[in-house]
Amino acid sequence: MQDFKYYAPTEVIFGRNSETQIAAMVQKYGGKKVLIHYGGQSAERSGLLAVVRKSLDSAGIAYVELGGVVPNPRLSLVRKGIELCKAENVDFLLAVGGGSVIDSIKAIGYGLDYKGDVWDLFIGKGEADTCRPLGVVLTIPAAGSEMSEGCVITKEAEQEPVTSTDMKRSYDVDLCRPRFAIMNPERTLTLPPFQTACGITDIMMHTMERYFSHDDDMLITDAVAESILKTVRQCGPKVLTAPLNYHLRAQIMWAGSIAHNGLTGCGTTGDWATHNIEHELSALYNVAHGAGLAAIWPHWAEYVLDENPTRFAQFAVNVLDVPNNFRSAKETAIEGIAAMKQFYHSIGMPTSIQELIGRKATEEEMQLMANKCSIGKTSTVGNLKKLAYNDILKIYQLANR
Ligand code: NZQ
Ligand code: ZN
Repeated sequence: MQDFKYYAPTEVIFGRNSETQIAAMVQKYGGKKVLIHYGGQSAERSGLLAVVRKSLDSAGIAYVELGGVVPNPRLSLVRKGIELCKAENVDFLLAVGGGSVIDSIKAIGYGLDYKGDVWDLFIGKGEADTCRPLGVVLTIPAAGSEMSEGCVITKEAEQEPVTSTDMKRSYDVDLCRPRFAIMNPERTLTLPPFQTACGITDIMMHTMERYFSHDDDMLITDAVAESILKTVRQCGPKVLTAPLNYHLRAQIMWAGSIAHNGLTGCGTTGDWATHNIEHELSALYNVAHGAGLAAIWPHWAEYVLDENPTRFAQFAVNVLDVPNNFRSAKETAIEGIAAMKQFYHSIGMPTSIQELIGRKATEEEMQLMANKCSIGKTSTVGNLKKLAYNDILKIYQLANR
């Protein structure tokens, strides 16, 4: 069992009518002038933004608004948000949306006090000392950003002449963990099947990234992780056929938060190769993060399986109900990977690059992604097996068959 720190400071208000707490939460955490940040149209269409505005109005809290966050949130809008907040003396940030909106507002929160260019933080050129306080009204269970220290931003190609493709990078420190998260599962009933399935995939993946390690003595953390995985595996396909089922939506929503608030990583090293390899797919093809993960994971698993076949077998038996049958761990593990592929297909997720983008990737594209993922062949990703440029390229090639 590795030493660990567990820090999950976000106050969670979960359930029906939780939005009635918005103004009280903003006031509790010192907000007097708020930025309401949101995405495209979903929060306006559902009436949620009207609820947020009304709540702040009735408490006499001033606010400005900035919408337009897109999936794989862009640096240009972050910069616009920083300027707006400075001009308007905003002291509290409120994200209304999913991972993209939350990450965009986290980056604004960093940029408001950081002396240099906020992008420096994402490329290791600087460290933030502060992040403005922020809260979340969550609309999609997926990224887990409502309780996480993660912040993932995409810098547009036109601002990145060196690579001439978008750069997607994360900055992961505790400063940006939201003060509160309002989570009403009713707000997720409008999610289309594809976004629901992407969320299911990402939630499971956040647990799996921490599960696949060499730390085989973490019984309690394994048990927590396997419970989350089994719950999402069972409820995920059901919610796709019963999208208005509150009970199922609620299980998935809470799973999304505890899958990525650090709980499933207590005492384990964590891997994160699949996420790093996927981020290059999102950057190059602007695909949904969850779908990209499904296209990569089976091939990553196949490639690193020999590092710890027993753990993959445990995953197969305990999570996917693959029978043990006294076979070798490797045989059981391989069956588990096949079962996971089947699961992805059952919820409409791709398991190859071709299924993800509608064509095969070219050799040049895969080399470019492997090069960016390994920071110009200078670093590795993953821990179960440390993957350098050639390994990463091989995984893209396996995913491209
Ligand atoms: O823009 P709108 O119109 O709101 O539509 C959104 C968007 O198109 C829609 N949506 C959200 N809530 C909805 C809804 N549609 C109908 N009803 C609702 N209730 O869903 C689409 C996707 O939203 P997005 O916020 O992009 O999804 P998600 O939460 O999956 O976030 C993905 C981003 O988070 C990053 C990913 O890389 C990606 O950029 N991640 C952030 C992490 C973190 N901060 O800890 C960790 C993750 O591993 C991940 O990398
Ligand atoms: Zn993720």
